[in-house]
Amino acid sequence: MTSALPSAPAFGAALAIAPRPDVLDFLALRRSAPALTLTEPGPTASQLDDMLRIAARVPDHGKLAPWRFVVLAGDAKDVFAARLDAMAQGRGDAVLAAKLGKLKAPPLAVAVIASPKPGAIPEWEQVLSAGAVCAHLLQAALAMGFGANWITDWYSYDPEAVSLLGLAENERIAGFVMIGAAREAPLERERPAPATLVTHWTP
Ligand SMILES: Cc1cc2nc3c(=O)[nH]c(=O)nc-3n(C[C@H](O)[C@H](O)[C@H](O)COP(=O)(O)O)c2cc1C
Repeated sequence: MTSALPSAPAFGAALAIAPRPDVLDFLALRRSAPALTLTEPGPTASQLDDMLRIAARVPDHGKLAPWRFVVLAGDAKDVFAARLDAMAQGRGDAVLAAKLGKLKAPPLAVAVIASPKPGAIPEWEQVLSAGAVCAHLLQAALAMGFGANWITDWYSYDPEAVSLLGLAENERIAGFVMIGAAREAPLERERPAPATLVTHWTP
């Protein structure tokens, strides 16, 4: 199957800046779908490739690509969830086990790994870029008509759980982007009024 995206521009190609009202409509109304409502079918391999291509096209100081993806799908995702389940059961922690529903329900989970590189670019900026990757992956999935949700939960922080993904010492999980068909339209949640967030600096 071929990509539904425009082909990747050649290095140095001029990319026109122009109004995109369709994009503004999308951004003004976009909404994550609760992970528990995500079901089959998930994206095809080609759709996933497109999403990851968009996700990797984020502002990235120094062109370091300080992030990477671990795709969890099908039987492999079931095994990953089962291992986390065994961990939770072994600790006798029903809350941890229950949280795994958000991982088990969606057909696809993409772990975005912040993988900062040594050098002049502050690690903080590299981690911010990993957050942007999560957001762009989320928006790409939504714009393709899938439900999606950016989840961390305990298995992004628990050392034993994190070890299942084979992270290097300096790497951290920026989030799991859960993706699938949304069984129902998500309801709008409360949003902050921008005016409450804004001050204007004066000298
Ligand atoms: C870094 C990060 C981690 C999150 N982790 C969780 C989580 O573990 N569980 C959860 O229910 N929501 C989590 N959320 C919230 C959802 O991703 C999402 O922001 C919320 O459902 C509202 O989504 P929307 O503004 O896209 O509609 C997290 C959000 C961020 C930014």
